[in-house]
Amino acid sequence: MEAPEEDSQAAVADGEDAPPAQKLSKNARKKQQKQEFREKRKAERKAAEKEKKKRELERKRREWDEKLAGASEEERVRLVESRREARRERMEQRSEEREMKIARLRGATEVGQKLVLDLEFGHLMSPSEIHSLVHQVMYCYAVNGKSTSPAHLWLTGCTGEIDSQLKKLPGYEKWIIERESRSYIDALHHEKENMVYLTADAEVELHELDLKKIYIIGGLVDRNRWKGITQRKAKEQGIQSAKLPIGGYLKMSSSKVLTVNQVVEILLKFLETKDWKASFFKVIPQRKICEEEPESRNEDALTDIEEAGDEGDADSGAEENAEDEVEGERKRMRMEGTIDGSG
Ligand SMILES: C[S@@+](CC[C@H](N)C(=O)[O-])C[C@H]1O[C@@H](n2cnc3c(N)ncnc32)[C@H](O)[C@@H]1O
Repeated sequence: MEAPEEDSQAAVADGEDAPPAQKLSKNARKKQQKQEFREKRKAERKAAEKEKKKRELERKRREWDEKLAGASEEERVRLVESRREARRERMEQRSEEREMKIARLRGATEVGQKLVLDLEFGHLMSPSEIHSLVHQVMYCYAVNGKSTSPAHLWLTGCTGEIDSQLKKLPGYEKWIIERESRSYIDALHHEKENMVYLTADAEVELHELDLKKIYIIGGLVDRNRWKGITQRKAKEQGIQSAKLPIGGYLKMSSSKVLTVNQVVEILLKFLETKDWKASFFKVIPQRKICEEEPESRNEDALTDIEEAGDEGDADSGAEENAEDEVEGERKRMRMEGTIDGSG
């Protein structure tokens, strides 16, 4: 793994306060240009989606108006009534689902697998990375609410900019989640021996989830600029660490460092299915998977892939794509009332 360049680190970490482009190193300038290109492309995609949605709405409205215009008085009354009924049924179904979700999440606070999102890395991220992290947290919460075996989710080290941005999320105050300004190490101090920090840099692989354990996930969006930071933290704090057993089930076309929401979703899928392979395939985007062969069958090829994936850009792509996916999912969930609704 390439050590992060001082300049590029500063450029990303300082965000808007980054030095002017001419003072950046060649490498940092390239990264900055790539980032600008990605942002431009993203903005264009968003605008196109918005326009498409608007046209679709207009088309539906026109169709409805034409249908009504061509109908007899009696038929019109029937059409309007059946549309109203369909809407009522949809609302009822949503409210039932919401009730069930609340019951599941309340149950998880008693018996669910404890999962901690460690939010103590705010000072190492740029404003846009914090923004991205907050959206990933929101996505984790939404996915947990949908899970048939939800986890008992904790947000620890919840202070500063991350905390302020979380508080701005619609419905955040009603989330059924543990919120702690203290670090997990203080908030859950009596369970220190059960803590396992999940990190791609751990030596040990995670094979089972143990209800007695507390699994900690680093709340970082860093394009792996801070490689090894969570492993070092776990070591310094004297707590165990483990990595997801990805290599035993699939080969990745880029780095095995996943985003926060991907890790949470994999763990939730595993809680439901007890099947790592199914969980990885469900969550890790297809384009990131090389082939189905486990790495033990082709170790040379894996080394090449790991080396390629270890370059910052591979991770950067993962986080960029994850952000898009989170954004898309967020919209869908908002429409379904998964995040805005109570709980
Ligand atoms: C974007 S990664 C942060 C990478 C960061 N440089 C680090 O050292 O952890 C977000 C978090 O997801 C978890 N994670 C990502 N990939 C993982 C893997 N392969 N195994 C276990 N945990 C992983 C870790 O908790 C990690 O801190």
